[in-house]
Amino acid sequence: MTKSHDSYIIEFDKIQRREGSLSVVQGMTDIPFDIKRVYYMTDVPEGSKRGFHAHKELRQVIIPLSGTLGVTLDDGTVKTKFILHRTNEGLYVPPGLWRELNFVSEDTICLVLASERYDENDYIRDYNEFLTYRKCIQ
Ligand code: TYD
Repeated sequence: MTKSHDSYIIEFDKIQRREGSLSVVQGMTDIPFDIKRVYYMTDVPEGSKRGFHAHKELRQVIIPLSGTLGVTLDDGTVKTKFILHRTNEGLYVPPGLWRELNFVSEDTICLVLASERYDENDYIRDYNEFLTYRKCIQ
């Protein structure tokens, strides 16, 4: 079973010029899985928290395209916190971790690269159920 510390920051190449910056995310080399889905969250009110679930199989990379995103990952025992605000950095989130996303600033846009297509059966949305899944209770 994965631990909170199995998550890590991936740095992407960033080409910075006077006319603006361009960051490059390359499948297979930068991302540790085949990308089957891309989704993004916009228009999230400042200070809103989202997530509050875990995935059984899904692997993700979370990239803050704009603003500041706080991410707390929890394996049922240890919590790891990240503050994402660099547009050329992504957070790899392995399966089996409870996550909370804090949209710290008004302009926060969160891009997610995912290893699987959407499947509600892959979600655990109840924290006690998550702890049971992690065999931390019972
Ligand atoms: P969810 O993954 O719960 O996001 P968050 O935890 O940030 O609120 O998704 C929110 C809603 O969107 C939920 O009803 C499921 C739906 N959804 C899809 O239909 N397809 C998708 O690819 C995703 C990510 C979510």
